Amino acid sequence: MKLLEDVSQRAIRYLEGLTERNVAPTLESVSGLARLGIDLPDNSTDPEDVIAELDEVVSPATMAMAGPRFFGFVVGGSLPAALAANWLSGAWDQNSTLYDVTPGTARLEELALRWLIKLFKLPSNCGGAFVTGDTMANFSALAAARHAVLTRAGWNVESDGLIGAPEIRLVVGAEAHVSLFKSLGLLGLGRNKVTRVPVDSQGRMRADALPALSSTSIVCTQAGNVNTGAFDPIQKICEHAHDAGAWVHVDGAFGLWAAAAPSRAHLTNGVEEADSWATDAHKWLNVPYDSGMAFVRDSEALRAAMAVTAEYLPTSLAHRNPSDYTPELSRRARGVEVWAALRSIGRSGLSELIERTCRYARRFAQGLSEAGYEVLNEVVLNQVLVSFGDADTTKKVIAELQADGTCWCGPTVWQGNTAMRISVSSWATTDADVERSLAAMLKIAAKHSER
Ligand SMILES: Cc1ncc(COP(=O)(O)O)c(C=O)c1O
Repeated sequence: MKLLEDVSQRAIRYLEGLTERNVAPTLESVSGLARLGIDLPDNSTDPEDVIAELDEVVSPATMAMAGPRFFGFVVGGSLPAALAANWLSGAWDQNSTLYDVTPGTARLEELALRWLIKLFKLPSNCGGAFVTGDTMANFSALAAARHAVLTRAGWNVESDGLIGAPEIRLVVGAEAHVSLFKSLGLLGLGRNKVTRVPVDSQGRMRADALPALSSTSIVCTQAGNVNTGAFDPIQKICEHAHDAGAWVHVDGAFGLWAAAAPSRAHLTNGVEEADSWATDAHKWLNVPYDSGMAFVRDSEALRAAMAVTAEYLPTSLAHRNPSDYTPELSRRARGVEVWAALRSIGRSGLSELIERTCRYARRFAQGLSEAGYEVLNEVVLNQVLVSFGDADTTKKVIAELQADGTCWCGPTVWQGNTAMRISVSSWATTDADVERSLAAMLKIAAKHSER
């Protein structure tokens, strides 16, 4: 077990080094990966040497996503309790499929789901699943939606597939996340066979522009646009859609977590009226990759879409079997880290995390706009879009900021305008990190504005 002690020392050194090292890996460390390009060895290697090689070659070539100044995509770090729980549950190595076989992890997942349902103020008896991320959470929830709307039309999609099935009308906002279309494609519903509803300047779906709906319609709304952080008017959409008997799904990859923060919770008003929800834990809850959750009001619809039985699988209906609700059969218990994160920071810690990161987003927006740069979105959550001038200048500033290594932000194009995206999602970010990163942005941007 000296190996495990050794690797924990290496991991600690890695994490402690993140505050001062370049956020992006250097070109030199990325070229160092060439050292791994050997043929599959014939002979064994001492496990300690394997870990030493990993640490020496790969650690420097990682992006410091677990550190305090990575503001790309929507990436949280790992809360200490969540990372430690990940290590411990790795040691458990439970195939968390059936309660009777892995009761400890199955129970933890059930408890974590219960906490989350309360936290998000979802219907208390709704079903849920721990999956790899929001893409699979959307997939799972929409598999339940597909089951439910086709059952209403007298069709069993799990048995008979989609060929010859009644038509499903899919309705999405024009600014839906690209991964939603991937989920629709995987479900055989078609990435392009959707009605796109026009949106406003923040990417919010216009409820007044919804098409005619019926009981075989599925409306996919969004709580938290990946660029602006804006929420669709979900309550209004639910009213309209439910009048027609349609299913409403909410993609709340990061936005659902606003429910935990008193000053942001109003954004989630009415979200609980939908029929299904998807979110991530690896974003704002700050658990290690990969971790997402699906929730479905009618838990039987989710079960019908996912459950399988076989003689060799000792299924008992007395308890919740995790894999009855997930696309995977064999699976690791992702809920363990979620449970540990929530157990460790509690409601108040989570609320503070969401409030603090939103405050940092507002500080970035304020500092940049005071220096004369245009902030393109209403900063309602943790996302900021800033333009440093024309597209070319903005791209140059982003490239130089990434090379500078103080922090890392990525590019986007928002409704035709090239912008830099700042997403503040990590528990590890401090006031000092925000000021240091803002100073680096302003210094680099000023250099390019002078040219
Ligand atoms: C609104 C939204 N939906 C879906 C996703 C995809 O999430 P994941 O990468 O965890 O599958 C994201 C990722 O940023 C997102 O912001």
